[in-house]
Amino acid sequence: MSALFTPFRVGNLELANRIVIAPMCQYSAVDGCMTDWHLIHLGHLALSGAALLTIEATAVLPEGRISYADVGLWNDATEAAIARTLESVRRWSDMPIAIQLAHAGRKASVEVPWKGGAQIPPGTTNGWQTAAPSPIPFQQGERPPVALDRDGLKRVRDAFAAAARRAARLQINAVQIHGAHGYLLHEFLSPLSNRREDEYGGSLENRMRFPLEVFDAVRAVFPAERAVSMRVSGSDWVEGGWDIEQTITFAQALKARGCAAIHVSSGGLDPARQIPLGPSYQVPFARAVKAATNMPVITVGLITAFEQAEAIVGTGDADLIALARTILFNPRWPWHAAAHLGARVNTPEQYLRSQPRQYRDLFDIGH
Ligand SMILES: Cc1cc2nc3c(=O)[nH]c(=O)nc-3n(C[C@H](O)[C@H](O)[C@H](O)COP(=O)(O)O)c2cc1C
Repeated sequence: MSALFTPFRVGNLELANRIVIAPMCQYSAVDGCMTDWHLIHLGHLALSGAALLTIEATAVLPEGRISYADVGLWNDATEAAIARTLESVRRWSDMPIAIQLAHAGRKASVEVPWKGGAQIPPGTTNGWQTAAPSPIPFQQGERPPVALDRDGLKRVRDAFAAAARRAARLQINAVQIHGAHGYLLHEFLSPLSNRREDEYGGSLENRMRFPLEVFDAVRAVFPAERAVSMRVSGSDWVEGGWDIEQTITFAQALKARGCAAIHVSSGGLDPARQIPLGPSYQVPFARAVKAATNMPVITVGLITAFEQAEAIVGTGDADLIALARTILFNPRWPWHAAAHLGARVNTPEQYLRSQPRQYRDLFDIGH
């Protein structure tokens, strides 16, 4: 019996196997609204046989977008665009769907990656003033963010809650709050980006305060039976920055507040990071958080091989594995993994005839 293809529950969310599709920005929205690209992109991933599809970082405010082409969920138009996309996806796939709610903080207002990704200054086309815990830019030479004041903090917190309400109305199965990769909530957590002198900065307890307030605000409005989770960076990979010990304390605080699962990534906060990139390089962070909290843990990062994924779940290092580049490169990765590991995978009826002769029991009939 394959560990990777063993079902799992997060709250009332039934997952057919342990493979999660990680959130992936597509930089293909218009005024925050999903386009046909999202239908194509999410539609094909929804046929992949994974257990959960996570919608890309979705900005809770226009200025919380990484770029002008990010998806948002801050008004009726952005909600309707997601509704249209999901209506089509769900017609042909019963894969559960999560959404990552996000605010990019000081890393907002940049060009899309394939046009260089440079900061776009406020007052120019597609640019705006960024906001963060402290007025420290991400990269040298960039225009600094403004420090959020009390009203600003309330506006962001309320926007996360409002987006979660809209996500509930869209029948989205789970919310993941983006607390990783150097975006706004991570900027509060890390002592490198948070130099505040009020109750939101300084001690670890103070730096965790705003992300925990956002978690509480989202948890309070999203239906109780549906999961709210958090994505974190397990380390800034910089001396004196956010690290795994602080991550564990944060995870314990989240668990105490009803967080359903934690997705442990790393990096993104400081360009000076030193990351020992390699297969499974972030798994040790997941293992440490799981050992300390015993909450459902998702790991991610350079997981490409079937046996590698099987070993991560089989040894209990993490409960779930997430795939990003791997599943873009091979959108049928879960089918191939199931074939390799002697398991079964959900497949649309239209594609049943593709079952290779040597894998006679591979396909479960899909939705
Ligand atoms: C095209 C692309 C878009 C991404 N967008 C997001 C995003 O919206 N939110 C997020 O938390 N991470 C994002 N990531 C990071 C991935 O979710 C993942 O953590 C990372 O790519 C490592 O996994 P991998 O080695 O399987 O690609 C993105 C990665 C890629 C390649």
